[in-house]
Amino acid sequence: MEKAKVNRMKRNIILIGFAGTGKTTIGQALSEKLQWKQVDCDHWIESKTGRKIAEIFEQFGEEKFRDLETQALADILQQQGQVVTTGGGSPLREKNKELMLHGGVVISLIANAETIIERVKGDQSRPLFQGNMEEKITALMEQRKGIYDFAEVHIDTNHKKVEQIVEEIILNIQDCTGLMD
Ligand code: S3P
Repeated sequence: MEKAKVNRMKRNIILIGFAGTGKTTIGQALSEKLQWKQVDCDHWIESKTGRKIAEIFEQFGEEKFRDLETQALADILQQQGQVVTTGGGSPLREKNKELMLHGGVVISLIANAETIIERVKGDQSRPLFQGNMEEKITALMEQRKGIYDFAEVHIDTNHKKVEQIVEEIILNIQDCTGLMD
């Protein structure tokens, strides 16, 4: 099947990006605008396990969390017509990238380190940023360079209002999600 046709069948919008790029905020605004359901992978994991993400990291380690993340994506992406928000590390696994590319149109939200630090500095819930947050974020961003490149659409979120980002996403996906059908 030609690529355009395959893309038109994609009915989930999947937001990826480093923590603090605005996935949750944008996902919520986008789902309201489109009247689509918003489903968050971290919430799926927390509700399935009955534990907070930080607790899972602490008690079972990152690998176990990554396994749960793959299960979450596989389960969530069986449905269609959803705005799916993912954890910042989900593209670390090839399997997850495959699931996402098959499950919908993948949108990468981008922000620079300064913006990210500003956005997440008051939030202690992320296990990977414990300690010197600025150092951890800078190092992790460097280590993860390129992992979001597989997305079909890339949106810069620096110094932009939520509504503007949502509009940009909608403009970019009109052709590939069947939103205009
Ligand atoms: C993680 C990001 C978090 C969460 C977990 C791991 C990461 O999600 O999935 O703490 O590896 O970057 P957010 O991107 O929503 O903060």
